[in-house]
Amino acid sequence: MRYYEVEPAAVYRQVARDHMTQWSDAFEPGRPGGFDDFPNRAFLERVLPELRGITDVLEYGCGTGPAACFLASRGLRVDAVDLDPQAIGLARQFAEERGLRVNFGVQDVCRWPAADQRYDLVVDSYCLQNIVLDEDRAAVFRGVRDRLAPAGRYLISTALYTPDRVYDEELQYDSATGICYRDGLPYRRHLTAAALRAELTKAGFTVLLLTGGDVVARAAR
Ligand SMILES: C[S@@+](CC[C@H](N)C(=O)[O-])C[C@H]1O[C@@H](n2cnc3c(N)ncnc32)[C@H](O)[C@@H]1O
Repeated sequence: MRYYEVEPAAVYRQVARDHMTQWSDAFEPGRPGGFDDFPNRAFLERVLPELRGITDVLEYGCGTGPAACFLASRGLRVDAVDLDPQAIGLARQFAEERGLRVNFGVQDVCRWPAADQRYDLVVDSYCLQNIVLDEDRAAVFRGVRDRLAPAGRYLISTALYTPDRVYDEELQYDSATGICYRDGLPYRRHLTAAALRAELTKAGFTVLLLTGGDVVARAAR
């Protein structure tokens, strides 16, 4: 198992067992709002009306699919992938219950196959923070670039390093890299906003907006 596969297997086992709706529920039991209340909803609601000519969307790291279903409910054609088969099973169930059509699939985006389609929008709803090592993040960014239509947009919501973020004794934070280790394994990548902007620029994106952990980018020309 790779470092980024360990936690999702445990989290989605808990989500399924305890009849929860999504990843966030496992960290905030009793969270009100349910399936339709997902962490980057406000960001998507703000940005979507500003984007013109969007029809085809890819979400990676979709988990149980709250954002993917939200996008499909807005009339978009959505492909959505996650590496965890339990998450994708739940996502299919939630979409079906809502009468929404989303093409869900199991895929590790650090090992993406050659692209066979281009998307107007690629969405990352808090997946990137779980992909920690440079080579894995570079593989994700290569895959996104290969899949983004020329005028396409890349939306990321991710955790960032902030000075007031508290790391308890279980988490070792390396301020030089932004890598957070747990039990000796890479666990999270919490970059500063400046470091994330530099990383995306180096990976071939132009950052159009970066507020908090919300990013709008496009492929650099
Ligand atoms: C913090 S959770 C967010 C899940 C979902 N987007 C949400 O908002 O509920 C991160 C997700 O990324 C997925 N993930 C992590 N590494 C991945 C990878 N290499 N390929 C595909 N999915 C990955 C995890 O399985 C998990 O579902």
